[in-house]
Amino acid sequence: MKTVAWDGSLLVGIPLVDQQHEELIRRLNALACSITTGEGEREIQRTLEFLIEYTRHHFSAEETIMADAKYPGLLEHKSRHLEFIGVLNQLEEEFREDGSTKILAESLNTLLVNWLLTHIGKVDKQFASHFHTAKSTG
Ligand SMILES: [Fe+2]
Repeated sequence: MKTVAWDGSLLVGIPLVDQQHEELIRRLNALACSITTGEGEREIQRTLEFLIEYTRHHFSAEETIMADAKYPGLLEHKSRHLEFIGVLNQLEEEFREDGSTKILAESLNTLLVNWLLTHIGKVDKQFASHFHTAKSTG
């Protein structure tokens, strides 16, 4: 299973957001790992629940920072977050129904990994550039 390498290219320059992104990727990798090594379904379910909970926590923290910075793209960004939560919930439901299948593993790779990297690399960075500009112009 493909894991996500955390590297400097994913930094947005807002320390809290960067820390949470790193943690999110750690949790996503932990989930990929528990599926690859064929851990018990209970353990995988637990890891998936942690990931969902942490994702919600991270998104709401990010949205608070955006609201404080009066980010004009907030609504659009929020809807991307909702989409992602939807994907996670769907994966959790599939897992509960079918257990740890190859389909679930592939969904993880294509949906979660690609989505997360694109989201951080493009959408979060758009906000970050607004954030840094707003800060420097006072
Ligand atoms: Fe985001």
